[in-house]
Amino acid sequence: MTYHSRIAGLGYYVPPRVVTNDDLSKIIDTNDEWIQERTGIQQRRHVVKGDGDTTTTMGIKAAKIAIERSGLTAQDIDFIVFATLSPDYYFPGPGVTLQKELGMRTVGALDIRNQCSGFVYALSIADQYIKTGMYQNILIVGSELHSIGLDMTTRGRGVSVIFGDGAGAAVLSRETDLSKGVLSTHLHSEGEHALELALQAPGMGGRWVTDILADNNPEDESYYPYMNGQFVFKNAVARFSEVINEGLQTNNLSVSDIDMLVPHQANLRISQFIQKKFNLTDDQVFNNIQKYGNTTAASIPIALTEAWEAGKIKSGDLVVLAAFGSGFTWGSAIIRW
Ligand code: UT7
Repeated sequence: MTYHSRIAGLGYYVPPRVVTNDDLSKIIDTNDEWIQERTGIQQRRHVVKGDGDTTTTMGIKAAKIAIERSGLTAQDIDFIVFATLSPDYYFPGPGVTLQKELGMRTVGALDIRNQCSGFVYALSIADQYIKTGMYQNILIVGSELHSIGLDMTTRGRGVSVIFGDGAGAAVLSRETDLSKGVLSTHLHSEGEHALELALQAPGMGGRWVTDILADNNPEDESYYPYMNGQFVFKNAVARFSEVINEGLQTNNLSVSDIDMLVPHQANLRISQFIQKKFNLTDDQVFNNIQKYGNTTAASIPIALTEAWEAGKIKSGDLVVLAAFGSGFTWGSAIIRW
C-alpha cells in the first residue's frame, strides 16, 4: 500500500517584540530606505531576553496550534522532525524537549539543520515516513532564535538587519487519495559554497549562545554569521528557479498550474525576481518578509500558515514551496492541497 502525506494542520508563533528598521538605525549605521530597497523588510520580531522565548519554546507554541488545527492531540503524533540552526543547546536538539513539553509518547525525535532549507528538508523526510506506511502523523517544526546571536554593530549590518525570530509548524498526516497531498520533494546541496553563508564558531562546545558571545572577544568575527550577500543572491535566484522547474516537470505540471508559490523569505527582491521569471501574479506568490525578516527554517511554515489563514490556499490548489540557503542547500515541494 502506498500513501501520500497531506498537511493537516499549520501554526506559527512570533515573539511580540517588533523591531523596526528605525529601531535598528539607532544602534547600527543603517536606515529604513536601504533595508526596504534592498530586502523589502520593514520590521522583524526579536525575543526579549529572559522572557522565556527560545527556539524550543517558540517551536512548542507553533506546534500546539498546528496539532489542534489538525484535529489530533499530541498523543496521536508518531514522529517529530525539528529543523533549526539556532538550537537552545549544542546537544541535545530541541526535538526531545518538545516531546516532553507536549506530553507525547516516547516517539522518535529527529533534529535537522539545513538552515533556510530546513523546513523543506523536514517536510521531505516526514513525507517519506508516511509514504512507506511507517508513521501516520508527523509533527514538523521550523524555529529560529537569531537575534541574540547577531552582530548588532555596524560591522554586522549586512546580515543583522535581515534576520528575525519565530517558529512555524505543520502536522503531516496519511492521505489515501494519491491525487492529493505532497506530490514530490526535491533536495539539493553544494558544499563548495559552505562558507559563503555560515557561522563558524563555536565548532565544539555545549554552552548557550549568549554565554559564548559574552565570554569571547567581541572582535572575533567567527562568532557571528557571515554572508557573501551578492554571491548568495545570485545562487538563490538560479537555484530557486531550477528546483521549482524540477518539481513541476516531475509531476508533468507547468508554471500555469501553480496556484500558490510560498518561497523561503530570504529577500523580497528574490521573490519578486522569481515571480517575474515565472510570470506569476501577486496573488500567486505569498510574501511576509516585510513583517518578519528572514526567519530561516521558520520562514516557510510561518508564511504557509498566514497564507492559509488568509484563505489564499484552498482545497485542490497546487501549492509550491521552495527554499535556498546556507550550505548551500535548496529544495522544493509540490503539494496538491
Ligand atoms: O536566506 C538565505 C539566503 N540568503 C539570501 O538569499 C540573501 C541574499 N543576499 C541579499 O539579500 C543581499 O545581497 C543583501 C540584502 C544581503 C545585501 O544587499 P546588496 O545589495 O547585495 O548589498 P551589498 O552587500 O553589496 O552592500 C552594498 C552597500 C555597501 O556599501 P558600499 O561598499 O557600496 O559603500 C554596504 O556596506 O551597502 C552597504 N550596506 C548597508 N548600508 C546600510 C550593507 N548593509 C547595510 C545596511 N544598511 N544594513
